[in-house]
Amino acid sequence: MIKKTAGPYLLLANIGQLLTLRGDTGPRRGPALNDIGLIEGAAVLCGAGKIIAAGRQRDILRHAWVKSNKSKLKELDCRGKVVLPGLIDCHTHPAFMKPRLVDFEKRIAGATYEEIAAAGGGIRSSLAGVRDAKRNALAEKVLTGFNAMLRHGTSTIEAKSGYGLSTESEIKSLEAIREAARHWPGTVKPTLLAGHVVPPEFKENPEGYVDLVCEEIIPLVARRRLAEYVDVFCERGAFTLEQSERMMAAARAHGMDTRAHVCQFTPSSLHGLLKHSPASFDHMDCVADHDLAELAGSNTVSVLLPGANYFLGHKEYPNARRLIEAGLAVALATDYNPGTSPTPSMPFVISPACTHMKMTPAEAIAASTANAAAALRLQRSKGTIEAGKDADLAIIDVDDFREIAYWFSWNRCAEMVVAGERQDFTADLRG
Ligand code: NIG
Ligand code: FE
Repeated sequence: MIKKTAGPYLLLANIGQLLTLRGDTGPRRGPALNDIGLIEGAAVLCGAGKIIAAGRQRDILRHAWVKSNKSKLKELDCRGKVVLPGLIDCHTHPAFMKPRLVDFEKRIAGATYEEIAAAGGGIRSSLAGVRDAKRNALAEKVLTGFNAMLRHGTSTIEAKSGYGLSTESEIKSLEAIREAARHWPGTVKPTLLAGHVVPPEFKENPEGYVDLVCEEIIPLVARRRLAEYVDVFCERGAFTLEQSERMMAAARAHGMDTRAHVCQFTPSSLHGLLKHSPASFDHMDCVADHDLAELAGSNTVSVLLPGANYFLGHKEYPNARRLIEAGLAVALATDYNPGTSPTPSMPFVISPACTHMKMTPAEAIAASTANAAAALRLQRSKGTIEAGKDADLAIIDVDDFREIAYWFSWNRCAEMVVAGERQDFTADLRG
């Protein structure tokens, strides 16, 4: 990784619009989701990887520290651009080897995602590539994805395994994620997704696979600290509620936290899963009315993934307005994966969140920063631009923050500051 050295202190000056997202820690709900803490004519002072001060430029320049340490300070002239917290992609599946072009063409010809999966395609068709790959080759693929995300403004990523589905290949996937993370400047939260689907060798014995996950894979991953979270795909054709609960209980018994893919194609009752205090429920396209009040009273964040709806050609998108009005904490993420959402771009996801899901640009940005931090339980260190938080900042070459949602498929991210350091966009495993 080649980094432009900025010294330990960096002043971002001449910011046209600074989106601080300052406010309560903890996810935003209801009208508070629109509260992005906009300051015009702003500056941000960073030191030792943290934000020292952020606010109106004339106040920051009067800051006692700035006055007495001018010589130690490097300046980044933002020339009127928009600066916001580094985007947080709280749901990605980067540990795969190849795109799934056969499935893609089958869907174009009319087959559905679930039909393709039931015929042995889908997630199962990504297994051979991962099982046959060397760890380093997989790490290269993961890092390619991470670097693309960085270029689009993302500085924190949740990264799942889930295309190995054997003890050896799930461990290899998590090791590849760890290796890629070592060569990437941002923060990576790894997740074990051995509960993605039942692999072919357990076709006749799905409970046997759940036993393997609970009794072997989770304990090993916990012992080796290869992941912080255990995720499960609770869905028709993947795992039942009961099987999902077993895996979540095993995770908790081994000191790991949980999250779950739920209600993507079919509704599930979420009360039982909520007992395991999941950090997030992801997809939530068809969540039932009777679960909304309990979800609103919980700390579980609903992560909406419109990239999957877009790429699967669905007419319907997750009903963000219904969830926001019910008081749920809502976040957005790419769901970067080879089957349903091959995009590394959070700004791309913000586009359908506004055009199809009717979130305001401000809500979509809060859902991609402060609330996405809460979905990873990182709200104390990330997701807002306030003194003491990590100095992860995205500099976007637009005049008005609403343009982040307005331009689509046009990457306006000009530069990133990660842990207080300016980044170039050329990391690789040899760096
Ligand atoms: O979030 N739904 C399950 N997992 C992914 C899809 C994975 C794949 O098809 O490879 C998702 O959409
Ligand atoms: Fe997913």
